[in-house]
Amino acid sequence: PLATTGALVAEASAAHTAVAAFNIITLEHVEAVIAGAEAVQAPVVLQISENAVKFRQGQVLPLARAATAAAERSPVPVALHLDHVQSDDLLRRAPGAGFSSVMYDAARLPYEENLAATRAAADWGHAHGLWVEAELGEVGGKDGRAPLDAHAPGARTDPVEARAFVADSGVDALAVAIGSSHAMTTRTATLDHDLLKRLAASAGVPLVLHGSSGVRAEELSAAVTGGIAKVNVGTALNLAMTTAIREYLAAHPDVVDSRKYLSVAREAMVGSVTQLITVVRGGRPG
Ligand code: G3H
Ligand code: ZN
Repeated sequence: PLATTGALVAEASAAHTAVAAFNIITLEHVEAVIAGAEAVQAPVVLQISENAVKFRQGQVLPLARAATAAAERSPVPVALHLDHVQSDDLLRRAPGAGFSSVMYDAARLPYEENLAATRAAADWGHAHGLWVEAELGEVGGKDGRAPLDAHAPGARTDPVEARAFVADSGVDALAVAIGSSHAMTTRTATLDHDLLKRLAASAGVPLVLHGSSGVRAEELSAAVTGGIAKVNVGTALNLAMTTAIREYLAAHPDVVDSRKYLSVAREAMVGSVTQLITVVRGGRPG
């Protein structure tokens, strides 16, 4: 059935485990994530990023409605989350498009501006029934250094700032920079587990790991043990999908029917989903 992200994260957090959240781009992503979650009988979050909305030519409803329909008929709880929202216009379309939650991303801004924008987004989101995640990465301009990208491997969230940011913005969950980085195609990120421990003790809300595709299974398990309650995965599914299609087309150069290669791509994504969910739920690393 359709669930809410807030409920799934709260349950995971209370059980000292995490819920996996997968970025969906195509209908095959939707089907693969739900099939994978059903195979291991686990709840899951489907998330659509602002970039995915741009790819869908600015339309959020077609994919959101497909995801909602698939969630409703699944035996496992499935929530729908709007990810990395920078546009206020998109934020305001979230409740009507069926999302129970949004991640509002102003982490590129200096601390005070990030806080002000996030607080406004959280106030609006809460007034409209949304669970709101935000992000605090390394604040730009410190020590005269140029602002770092929030997900550069060197970026770090400060635990003292994290506590103040959560208290002052009112967000329901916080994405933290502890060494992961978006869009990695190798699982070579090194996480700062000591920092994570301090963030978990200070933030006061469940923590979210972004860029989880670049984190190997043992590191991911340790991060969940250390306090991560939502694990965001995008690139791993694209890697599985694209590799499968590339191999299939190389082996079958005469194929025209898109269902042939989309079937193998979907199966490959199901494999990634089951592995990742097993890891974040505390199973054997795969
Ligand atoms: O919000 C989405 C995630 O952070 C995905 O990151 O594509 O590196 O797995 P990833
Ligand atoms: Zn992310």
